[in-house]
Amino acid sequence: MQANFAQRVETAVHSLPLADEAPAVGLILGSGLGDFAEGVAGREIPYQRIAGYPRPTVEGHRGVLKLGRSCAVLSGRFHYYEGVSLDDVVLPVFLLHRLGVRDLIVTNAAGGIRRSFHPGDLVLIRDHLNLQGVHPLRGPNPPGYGPRFPDLSEAYSRRLRGIAQEAAAAVPELSAGLAEGVYAAFPGPSYETPAEVRMAEILGADLVGMSTVPEVIAANYLGMRVLGISCVTNLAAGILERPLAHAEVVETGRRTMPAFARLLRGVLERLGA
Ligand code: HPA
Repeated sequence: MQANFAQRVETAVHSLPLADEAPAVGLILGSGLGDFAEGVAGREIPYQRIAGYPRPTVEGHRGVLKLGRSCAVLSGRFHYYEGVSLDDVVLPVFLLHRLGVRDLIVTNAAGGIRRSFHPGDLVLIRDHLNLQGVHPLRGPNPPGYGPRFPDLSEAYSRRLRGIAQEAAAAVPELSAGLAEGVYAAFPGPSYETPAEVRMAEILGADLVGMSTVPEVIAANYLGMRVLGISCVTNLAAGILERPLAHAEVVETGRRTMPAFARLLRGVLERLGA
């Protein structure tokens, strides 16, 4: 974090037209999954109205904060590969925390490494590998946030994973239960090479992507509980003999939306949001 980061967070919070919202649950929606916010009651605040907030540059990321009474939804996230700083990538997490969010749900599109995964599968993230080569907490540790050396031994809350499994049991398409896996974050923006995917597999990864890990580190630093859900939009590079395309990622995300939305609604209900 840069020395002025705490001030950036305060400036962003004070630029929000807050009414009586007190969201305890936050949701960050990844590629192709942003439409879920439309079913959530609340006020829409475009990112350009939030002071100091970057704009998403990626197709499938709308760039809107939906502020509900008990739940805040960010449709569109920032990725390190967009050229923004990691301060920009994690600013939304600090903002949600300042609004009162304590349970954070993060979703993403991911490539499936585990051979039993199929495009369209929803997988709970159990742990991650930070292969991005950067860390969002590098730099000064401003007073009042969290420890210099945050614990990440349960970065993805066991309790929230249990709640997600309960919610999945009530969704017909997901009633067999959700697989759990390790997410490896690469910097992007290229998709991985087959050799990189094999490396990630040897290191214990089941999923590969270009996001989420900075936000999850920041959320843990702030004492939030995290639920991470990946939508397997494609099999990772080299598993099939064909190239990967972003259009396929967005399209599989869209196709999976109805089940994903039911799962998220079930989780939110169980969290009282
Ligand atoms: N690799 C990295 N990021 C991704 C992928 C992938 O295969 N699919 C969706 N996001």
